[in-house]
Amino acid sequence: MNDKQVLEMITLKDVRLSDFSHIRIGGSARGILAPSSVDELRVIMPYLSERGYLAVGGASNLLFPDCYDGYVLLDEKLPRDVTYDRGVANVTANVNVNAMLMKLAAQDAGGFEFLAGIPAHLGGVVKMNAGAYGKTLQTLIHSIEVLDAEGKRNIIPAERVKFGYRTTSIREYIVSVNLLPEEMDRREIKARVDELIAMRRSSQPLNMPNLGCIFKNPPYESAGKLIDECGLKGKRIGGAVVSDVHANFIVNAGGATYSDVLSLIDHIREIVLRERDIQLELEIEVVHHETQTTRQ
Ligand code: EPU
Repeated sequence: MNDKQVLEMITLKDVRLSDFSHIRIGGSARGILAPSSVDELRVIMPYLSERGYLAVGGASNLLFPDCYDGYVLLDEKLPRDVTYDRGVANVTANVNVNAMLMKLAAQDAGGFEFLAGIPAHLGGVVKMNAGAYGKTLQTLIHSIEVLDAEGKRNIIPAERVKFGYRTTSIREYIVSVNLLPEEMDRREIKARVDELIAMRRSSQPLNMPNLGCIFKNPPYESAGKLIDECGLKGKRIGGAVVSDVHANFIVNAGGATYSDVLSLIDHIREIVLRERDIQLELEIEVVHHETQTTRQ
């Protein structure tokens, strides 16, 4: 099959970006694609790379526009797999990190507990070097299997990747990741996971549609604390509200739009700059109407 035929076959009909968005916002796209094999992906990758695409993974920190002029690539129909052999775990990028950590825990393979409760897929966590409690996957990665713009598979050893605060140098589509778990007792892993999930439940508004933390923490500061101290908890624009539980979260209190969230973000930035002389940087990714390339 050629690229056009594959594209046609994997295009989802009657779906909107809000169906996949954690904050339940987003309209149409040029195409919302859900390949069911890596081979299909390889065939369409040159076509997509030339035109621009957005690989959304778990889409847990993406704000989608009302109308996106590009292709959105979902990983929900790709095969999911977690294997663990002789100290190395191979996990496909579309596995939810909570499912991954429970599967590995059953084999006394730990080290990923800090990811507990993050509603993300492994590919996205690796690509943006996401983390919590001061930890990221950086030191637990052995290598990353990617598809390049031509659709060729490559293995990138961890030493060749540049990891920064919520960024990496990876631009290709991540297919799977080889991880180096720590040997740990499964009961110890479960106890730590339960503890972290309880902490997250009590300090974050997980029962409302949200995008996770909106802003990065400035050096030696907490964005949530700063926003809270500026009196912004509960500030509302349209259906978008600064959470009363954690001020670095914006929740969709019903009917929030793309522009409501953007206006609230601008407002928070303006107030924090005025009151505290600190320029907050976004941690979420705002997807603009026009095409942009690769994200997971
Ligand atoms: N705080 C307030 N008011 C608030 C929120 C927080 O005073 O509204 C205070 C807390 O009491 C605490 C301090 O600020 O003393 C830090 O808060 P917290 O422990 O919640 O951590 P954080 O720095 O706000 C970071 C990550 C979170 C991650 C938590 C737990 C960033 C930007 N945020 O939050 O990640 O879940 O630590 O490790 O790195 C995310 O990535 O989406 C995210 C939410």
